Amino acid sequence: MRIIDQIREMRCWSEAGRRESNHIVLVPTMGFLHEGHLSLVREGRKRGDRLVVSVFVNPTQFALNEDYTAYPRDLERDRGLLEKEGVDVLFHPPVEKMFPKGSQTTVEVERLSPLLCGAFRLGHFRGVATVVLKLFNIVRPHVAIFGSKDYQQLQIIRRMVEDLNFDVEVVGSPIVRGKDGLAMSSRNAYLSQEERQAALSLSRSLRKAESLVRQGERESGRIIHAVRAEIEKGPLARVEYVSLCHPASLEKVEKIHDEALLALAVWIGKARLIDNTILKA
Ligand code: PAF
Repeated sequence: MRIIDQIREMRCWSEAGRRESNHIVLVPTMGFLHEGHLSLVREGRKRGDRLVVSVFVNPTQFALNEDYTAYPRDLERDRGLLEKEGVDVLFHPPVEKMFPKGSQTTVEVERLSPLLCGAFRLGHFRGVATVVLKLFNIVRPHVAIFGSKDYQQLQIIRRMVEDLNFDVEVVGSPIVRGKDGLAMSSRNAYLSQEERQAALSLSRSLRKAESLVRQGERESGRIIHAVRAEIEKGPLARVEYVSLCHPASLEKVEKIHDEALLALAVWIGKARLIDNTILKA
């Protein structure tokens, strides 16, 4: 596996690959890899013949009061894991090369960004869209793979690619859960054992909502109430939001007609966790 930290070298590698008609796949990550990321890497392997994984903790998607400095990092471990998966390039650019002094151009996906997580993490999706666009410009992938746990992020990237006529196929990969149901996240590293137990209420609440819908419930208000009640049974969880919305526009829905996205964000100790499911009527 080649490790590239220079933008120019990354670009040259990709251009050479394209000239040889290689199909290039990019899996963008912020590192501290877990099974969820590795499932994206394995999906990536199937979808092309050259696989690039970027590891870049993007400062522009963290607000000032957020965990940019504390965000878990372990490049050596990531490198070992990616090598075993047969990744071709680990792209790990320095922050000052990605965002040199004076850079001021950003990408705003206007209507999707302020909803759900965006209402609580101001500027977050501007940072995500901007860095993903930069990664696309540098790596020039044919395909890019993203996890569905970050459902809103995935929708925003799809929208950006469509709106800006980017020639990249955006693939969403299913959420990967531990045996206990907890969705894989680098931020799970912040949880104590007791908090991890408490965090299981997130997936439990989603399963509860699915079961209510199977029994015929369609009213958003009642489903959201049941989800919150399930999470708030424990003393350690603080719900940031629970929302039922249209899976594409992410606008709130009062009732489930066909299908709806149930998305939630919950604080457990220092960890802000998100999870979601699609409820089908
Ligand atoms: O999902 C992530 O890890 C990040 O938001 C991403 C897409 C790598 C952009 O920094």
